[in-house]
Amino acid sequence: MDRSYNKLFENNVKWVAETTAANKDFFTDLANGQKPEFLWIGCSDSRVPANQITGTNPGEIFVHRNIANMVVHTDMNLLSVIDYSVNVLGVKHIMVVGHYGCGGVKAAMGNAQVGLIDNWLRHIKDVYRLHEKELDSIIDEDLRADRLVELNVIEQVYNLGKTSIVQNAWSNNKPLQLHGIVYDIKNGLMKDLKVSADDNSHIRSVYRLNPTSRNAS
Ligand code: CO
Repeated sequence: MDRSYNKLFENNVKWVAETTAANKDFFTDLANGQKPEFLWIGCSDSRVPANQITGTNPGEIFVHRNIANMVVHTDMNLLSVIDYSVNVLGVKHIMVVGHYGCGGVKAAMGNAQVGLIDNWLRHIKDVYRLHEKELDSIIDEDLRADRLVELNVIEQVYNLGKTSIVQNAWSNNKPLQLHGIVYDIKNGLMKDLKVSADDNSHIRSVYRLNPTSRNAS
């Protein structure tokens, strides 16, 4: 077996020993269930691990990751994660976390074909089109990519707010906040993009859904 693969199991045993030494009930407590306050929608990039960069433990953040932290309207995988975390786990915050230097965003700025992923990245090209004027005015390519990373996060927060799940949570007065965050892989710091939302006032009327009668008797 590959050495680096075996190493994972050695590390695991060491981690269990250290964790139980610090708190003997750690695993027993977690085995009783999870009650995370946060849903993290991040990039699959190996350099952006939700728990490590936020100093949180297992059990504290429910996580969904895909390439370039996208909230795609019809992504059943993501929609299931949102529905479960909001309606069963009762998370209070959903954060979309992008990161500077995102390969997916950079690829979406170019015209080279990468493969199947081009179809996924096209959602980022749609974001570029929405903000073409601003982005085209940024001459430096890295700075333009950084700005597209931010704008992409912001648009994904808006997409979140348009889902029936989030809108129903709000119309049922659930305390649910959406946030847009960018992580800087160069210094490890997270930046809040100040687009937090806890109602649908930022959503254009065409996207607003009437409250469901689901909970009415
Ligand atoms: Co990325």
